[in-house]
Amino acid sequence: MIEKLKTLLWFSKRVNYWRHALSLIIRKFYKDKDSVHLRTQATDWAAKRYVSVPEALSSIGLYSLETKMDIKLPLSLINEAKLLAKNSKVIMGGAGDLDLLFAACKLSDAKKILETGVAYGWSSLAILASISKKNDAKLISIDMPYPKMNNEDFVGIVVSRLLREKWDLIREPDRNGIQKAISKFGGDIDLCHYDSDKSYYGRAFAYPILWNALKSGGVFISDDIQDNFAFKEFVEKKNLKFAVTKSEEKYIGILCKK
Ligand SMILES: C[S@@+](CC[C@H](N)C(=O)[O-])C[C@H]1O[C@@H](n2cnc3c(N)ncnc32)[C@H](O)[C@@H]1O
Repeated sequence: MIEKLKTLLWFSKRVNYWRHALSLIIRKFYKDKDSVHLRTQATDWAAKRYVSVPEALSSIGLYSLETKMDIKLPLSLINEAKLLAKNSKVIMGGAGDLDLLFAACKLSDAKKILETGVAYGWSSLAILASISKKNDAKLISIDMPYPKMNNEDFVGIVVSRLLREKWDLIREPDRNGIQKAISKFGGDIDLCHYDSDKSYYGRAFAYPILWNALKSGGVFISDDIQDNFAFKEFVEKKNLKFAVTKSEEKYIGILCKK
């Protein structure tokens, strides 16, 4: 009870988070789409479909399997990021498949990139490294820190100072931040990476908005699609060609908008 009151107080002090707080209350009245049972089924579904990163990029048309894949985030940036991470006083999520993100951004020549979920900023680092030499490129990231964790100062900590010029960080929940980011880009985006609210309801809210904002030929990447059936239902409802790949025990869904 005390914890619930503390959470309520945390949200009450942040006007921009009220829409998100309301959505958290409303979802409690819906059928649980994030149950352990459904998660197991969603994991099986993803496990049956996953392919290697080059195969995934090839199947959505970004890459030819005849070319040897050698598009990797420079090791010097990873080493610097590891040093920066050591300065963090809070523990946040680790890195996903950075080479996949780096390669997808490079191969699609993405310039207007939107990501949800920053934490330490591993994915932001990979994306920013991919656009570092493009004058007209930008990454807008959206991140709402986890309530009561006091981790605000450490969000994006692994991103090198030298890469931050092309970065805009919106510190708000997806519910406000996604629309703000899309507007900042003038209505359309080249690539989006979804890695924030992993619940079914969070994805069901965000996926269609991001997809609609993607320009033709744009790339959509979602992390942790094994958490629930939101990704499966999204691609099936829209009859989309997709690929699934794997990074450690997590599955990633990738689509290219035709
Ligand atoms: C898995 S971490 C992101 C990891 C990051 N992409 C990386 O590669 O380092 C998820 C982040 O999303 C944030 N988040 C969770 N729910 C959110 C929401 N509804 N809106 C915005 N950010 C959210 C969390 O606070 C956390 O910082």
